[in-house]
Amino acid sequence: MCGIVGYVGHREVVPLLVDGLQKLEYRGYDSAGVVVVRDGELETVRAEGKLERLKESLTGHSLAGSHGLGHTRWATHGPPLERNAHPIVDSKNRIALIHNGIIENFLAIKHRLQEAGWSFTSDTDTEVIANLISSLLDEGDLRSAVRQTCRQLEGMYAFAAVSQSTREIVVARRGPPLLLGLGEGEHFLASDPAALLAYTRQVIFLENGDVARLTADGYEITNLDGSALERTVQRLNWDPVQIEKGGYKHFMLKEIHEQPQALQDTLAARVDFELARVGFEHFSIPVEELAAVRRIHLLACGTSWHAALVGKFMLEELARIPVEVDYGSEYRYRDPIVDESVLAIGVSQSGETADTLAAMEIARERGARLVAICNVVGSQATRFSDGTIYTHAGPEIGVASTKAFTTQLEALYLLGLFLRQARGGDLEHDLLEALAHVPQAVAEALEQEKHIAQIGRRYHRVSDFLYLGRGINYPIALEGALKLKEISYIHAEGYPAGEMKHGPIALIDDDLPVVAIATGDRVAEKVRSNMQQVKARDGKVIAVTDRDPADLEGVADEVIPVPRVPHLLQPIVNVIPMQLLAYYVGVRRGCDVDQPRNLAKSVTVE
Ligand code: M6R
Repeated sequence: MCGIVGYVGHREVVPLLVDGLQKLEYRGYDSAGVVVVRDGELETVRAEGKLERLKESLTGHSLAGSHGLGHTRWATHGPPLERNAHPIVDSKNRIALIHNGIIENFLAIKHRLQEAGWSFTSDTDTEVIANLISSLLDEGDLRSAVRQTCRQLEGMYAFAAVSQSTREIVVARRGPPLLLGLGEGEHFLASDPAALLAYTRQVIFLENGDVARLTADGYEITNLDGSALERTVQRLNWDPVQIEKGGYKHFMLKEIHEQPQALQDTLAARVDFELARVGFEHFSIPVEELAAVRRIHLLACGTSWHAALVGKFMLEELARIPVEVDYGSEYRYRDPIVDESVLAIGVSQSGETADTLAAMEIARERGARLVAICNVVGSQATRFSDGTIYTHAGPEIGVASTKAFTTQLEALYLLGLFLRQARGGDLEHDLLEALAHVPQAVAEALEQEKHIAQIGRRYHRVSDFLYLGRGINYPIALEGALKLKEISYIHAEGYPAGEMKHGPIALIDDDLPVVAIATGDRVAEKVRSNMQQVKARDGKVIAVTDRDPADLEGVADEVIPVPRVPHLLQPIVNVIPMQLLAYYVGVRRGCDVDQPRNLAKSVTVE
């Protein structure tokens, strides 16, 4: 959710930066700042809280100049205090840097730099980038220092740096969006076109691995080796609705692509990587009570129920507490056994789903402590719960849930870690590092989009689909089938792969595509046998794999590779091809993917 704006040219820069940041205000943030480069000095002003606070601080400064950067921060490493706000200046005062993303190996680099005498005054991973660039400046110019730095960074980033001695901005992108705006004798930079549209409509969307240098008179883009790259200049003829859709054809596609960012934002400020601790901001249940929880009830509907099914695996493995998962609509009529030792967790994007709310009330009336995992601030579910874990997915407009789902999974994993910690368990570093890597893994899974669009084109005329998964990925088969039903109106069923032989195998013929999720060491081989059973009956197999696609030759008709992550987090990655397949099949069939027939975004009736 961090917002980035930059400018080098002839205009007064501070009002321009503040105006750009204002356009990004909808993302929400906890602090903001600007840097202006003037007469060999880096002048920064930063403030905690809303942009208004930064504006107030700016009135007390005579910050003038025509070259600078602005940033709104959504905390990931370190609390939202002024010292953690961007721009961050390196410890030799040579460069200022703004950044969006998570640097996974920041601790290792920080320790190395500390040993070499570099000091740190913030809790951010961003300061590691600033000091690293500065440490490499003696060997070359800002651009080569940025390229060398990028080669050492693991994780996701979009950042921009200015140095006190040159009139240029150097930017790098791997993951979060970044675009350049082109003008006459001036150049712009932003994380979102909305920040630039008032000044220019000529833009270049940077790609992963790009490093660009902007001056008032021009721009150059290279890869990390320094080879020059050509990128297409686009003219943004966007109307207001297109601006809202960020240039995507549908909200659903935009929201699918927002997932790396949404996952990063949901993780933000909940994990202290240095101390290996997890915490939540809206959570008043005392640790002793959490430690005393004996059973967990997860209550939800639709896609959120699928998240709860995955959550059962996460919570049981991380916290070792038995978990029951119920549809809200079933729980409320089944006389559940609840007492004070139960922690009831309502999972709901909207926080307004009538069945989920009714189930949560029943659990509370019978003595359970109540937690909501929710995306909408102040919604009903959050108002009557003892604690809320907000999924910071941002507004989800498409009726089909996508980014709300993956952020719910991440929130459930965080809750598993939190309960483990409350019960005296260790949060090993690899559990946290795995989480930090998920946004990047999801960004890699999204790279299969064109391939999946082609698969969608090949199969969009069929009338049925079968989805198979096992263990923690069985709910992902259910979610894949639900997404396809909602968006394309094709009948689809999700099934545990091992159960296929007990019935659904009768359906298989050459008209039935079977989507098989074959990831993970323990069950991938079993799912492979299920695929062979499908092939033996002339069925068509679309396989999702975390191995070498060549291993599935002769077994699958289509193979969609996904990055491998630790097994509890693999569903977050595996659902990406499910969402894209449903989207492209739906679009191909001419369906209204954002507002499918008969559905509502929030179901507030029984
Ligand atoms: O707002 P909620 O998460 O409580 O909504 C629950 C379901 O209505 C919702 O997930 C529905 O299934 C979506 N259309 C799925 O894409």
